[in-house]
Amino acid sequence: MDFHVDLDPAAPTVRGSETFVLERDGGRRVMRIHDYDDVYAVPGLYEHVVSDRLGCVSPQTLATSLAAEVTAAGEQPADVRCLDVGAGNGVSGAALRDAGLTPVVGLDVSPAAGAAAERDRPGLYAEFVVAALGDAAVPDLVTRHRLTALVSAGALTGGHIEPQVLARTWAAFAPGGWLAYTCAEAHADDARSIFAEHTDIRRDERFVHRRTVAGDPVWYRVLVGRRR
Ligand SMILES: C[S@@+](CC[C@H](N)C(=O)[O-])C[C@H]1O[C@@H](n2cnc3c(N)ncnc32)[C@H](O)[C@@H]1O
Repeated sequence: MDFHVDLDPAAPTVRGSETFVLERDGGRRVMRIHDYDDVYAVPGLYEHVVSDRLGCVSPQTLATSLAAEVTAAGEQPADVRCLDVGAGNGVSGAALRDAGLTPVVGLDVSPAAGAAAERDRPGLYAEFVVAALGDAAVPDLVTRHRLTALVSAGALTGGHIEPQVLARTWAAFAPGGWLAYTCAEAHADDARSIFAEHTDIRRDERFVHRRTVAGDPVWYRVLVGRRR
């Protein structure tokens, strides 16, 4: 690790505005956690700040919840072929793999995410698509890669992917397909209602997604469902 990070507990804790100070190569700069292009450009920085310092567990919570429901259905997690939307630099894809699922396609609007995923976790995904989810040709991806699960860890609402866009994407999956996402608690009921018509909800649980830079818990819900 060729950098040092200072978290500022006095920094704004509104989601999307949290900052930290990066010291690297003799320089010091204030960065926003949600300036993903800049964060992904520094190897290990996202993992250090978001996973290690702020304790983000959305990727692992999503992956273990989905794997548990697949197993409870009497099926093999390895047979579940995932489209990971808002994939970032592959932390969520690695969690899927570690839970025994099969990450196949990563998709993220940030070009730096695709480059970082290939740099840090080469071969994790068979294909990485750089596009906003609403602009991506998802039916083609589902067909070409025989995808059976749509997953999104920590990438809904808050200026990220809107649940309506995820629901349109979900329409490309066949009956029996799996859906798993984590979502800020404030938006979780609305998001769930969008999927209700076509989805048999198997799990909907509250958990601490991560801490803010001030140390306060950020509550999320993890939802796992199956397409009717
Ligand atoms: C908090 S990160 C989560 C990354 C990864 N899933 C994880 O758990 O480590 C959210 C990601 O969503 C991506 N994102 C935001 N809006 C998006 C959109 N409309 N379409 C695709 N990706 C988007 C961002 O670029 C960012 O990489």
